[in-house]
Amino acid sequence: MKILTTIDEVRVASSDISKAGKTIGLIPTMGYLHEGHLSLFDNANEHSDITFASIFVNPTQFGPNEDYNKYPRDIDRDTELAEEHNVDYLFIPDALEMYPIGFCATMYIRNLTDKFEGQLRPGHFDGVALVVCKLFNIIRPDYAFFGQKDYQQTLVVKQMVKDLNMDTKIIVSPTIRLDSGLAMSSRNTYLSDEEKENATVLYYAMERAKDAIDNGERNRKEINAVLHKQLRSVQGIRIDYASIALANDLSEPDYFYPNEQAVILLAVYIGKTRLIDNFLITFQ
Ligand code: PAJ
Repeated sequence: MKILTTIDEVRVASSDISKAGKTIGLIPTMGYLHEGHLSLFDNANEHSDITFASIFVNPTQFGPNEDYNKYPRDIDRDTELAEEHNVDYLFIPDALEMYPIGFCATMYIRNLTDKFEGQLRPGHFDGVALVVCKLFNIIRPDYAFFGQKDYQQTLVVKQMVKDLNMDTKIIVSPTIRLDSGLAMSSRNTYLSDEEKENATVLYYAMERAKDAIDNGERNRKEINAVLHKQLRSVQGIRIDYASIALANDLSEPDYFYPNEQAVILLAVYIGKTRLIDNFLITFQ
């Protein structure tokens, strides 16, 4: 595995790979790798000739009071894991390489980013779109791999690629969970043992909502009520949102109809840690 830290090095590597007629699969990450990331590496290995991963804790997607400075980092361990999972090139730029003095560009994807995660974290998806666009321009991947764990992020990236005619195919992989149901996340490291147990309520709440839907519930407010009731069974939980929406545009109709694809979206605080999760549902 080659470790690259400058954009120039990456451009040379990428153009050599393309000249050799090989495809590139990119997995953008912020590091502190876990099974969720590793499943994306494995997926990339299956789909593309050359696997490129990036590790960059992207400052532009963190709000002023968010955890940019304390976001967990362990480059040595990440490098080992990436190597074990057959990553060919690991791009680890520093913040000035990506955002040199004098950097001025912004990126804004309308509509999709007004809701849920975008509403609660203003500017977050502008930063995500900006860094993903830069990574695509630098690496020029044929495929890019994202986790369903960050469902709204996958919609924003797909919209950007479509609207801006980018030549990269987006592939989304399922959420990897612990046996308890808790979705793997770099931020789980903030949780105490007790909080980790409490955090299983996210999965549990979505399961109960799914039960209600399987039993014929179609009314959005009723489904949301199930989610809120289950989540509130954990003392001290703070709910940012817990809602079901249409999976393609995150709109929120009063009722869902057969064959509609919907997504349950959750963001809650367990103690001081903010966790997100989601479930895709097809109405029968
Ligand atoms: P990060 O949180 O490091 O996640 C990198 C990729 O791993 C994302 O596509 C995310 O959805 C996926 N992922 C995280 N947890 C997962 C899980 N439990 N199962 C499956 N996939 C999972 O998401 C980001 O970084 C950043 O916003 C980024 C796209 C890199 C832009 O900075």
